[in-house]
Amino acid sequence: MSKVFITGANGLLGQALVETLKDVSVVVASGVEAEHFCPVDGVEYLQLDITRAANCNDVVKNLRPDFIINSASFTHVDACEEQRELCWNINVKGVENLARVARKIGTHLIHYSTDYVFNGTDGPYSEGDYCEPVGYYGRSKLASENVIRQIGCAGTIVRTCVLYGTGKRVKQNFFLWVLNNLQAGNKITVVTDQFNAVGTQKILETSWKGTIHLAGADYLNRYDFARAIASVFALPEDLIVPITSDRR
Ligand SMILES: NC(=O)c1ccc[n+]([C@@H]2O[C@H](COP(=O)([O-])OP(=O)(O)OC[C@H]3O[C@@H](n4cnc5c(N)ncnc54)[C@H](OP(=O)(O)O)[C@@H]3O)[C@@H](O)[C@H]2O)c1
Repeated sequence: MSKVFITGANGLLGQALVETLKDVSVVVASGVEAEHFCPVDGVEYLQLDITRAANCNDVVKNLRPDFIINSASFTHVDACEEQRELCWNINVKGVENLARVARKIGTHLIHYSTDYVFNGTDGPYSEGDYCEPVGYYGRSKLASENVIRQIGCAGTIVRTCVLYGTGKRVKQNFFLWVLNNLQAGNKITVVTDQFNAVGTQKILETSWKGTIHLAGADYLNRYDFARAIASVFALPEDLIVPITSDRR
């Protein structure tokens, strides 16, 4: 069994990774918080702020995992515009800290990036397409990818988009916003010209390296996604009003 060290384990993706990988790997989870929100039998939890280089170094060297999976990130897109230094520290410097120690001890780093590295005008995108982020969050995530490439550790960069689901104390996401509003009987307007797919994947078995776009098989705009949520949960679809981005 491979040993997997997961950062950001209290986040939406981190919680799902721990739950998925605990049966096929020896998982050590970590988060910036003192407490593991979703403690799991057999999974050790450590507190780790990835912006602290010395701590990253010590923890990873001590554990010597086969894989580091970095799901820690500053993900609030609007707050990234306001708190640029904090955003850069977490999304770029933190990743640099992990990439440096990964290279030092020959560990494979799996890192999550985003479709926000593209300008969004000409999707769907493939891995080799030109990156042109329009906001600070996207710029920081593109820089996080580049720092891994520059440092040259064994690495996989997974670009994904619109993760959805539930978890303990997870932040609001599109899925929860639609669900909560429809359950409360609220009318919502949802754009028809922003397309997403959903997905996640294990790369551990193959040790695949490089940059990969990871998404589900369906190519949906947000409006159709919202209607699918209503349908699955037997909620009224007529509360969902289609709109285009320029009229929001
Ligand atoms: N959610 C999406 O739709 C989406 C789409 C595309 C790509 N992604 C990427 O997928 C990854 C996971 O996203 P997510 O939705 O799971 O985000 P999330 O729920 O916000 O989880 C991120 C986790 O990182 C933690 N964190 C923040 N600063 C940290 C630090 N200095 N050290 C250690 N941990 C820290 C956060 O803790 P606090 O909450 O306490 O700050 C949070 O638990 C990110 O790389 C994101 O860019 C997400």
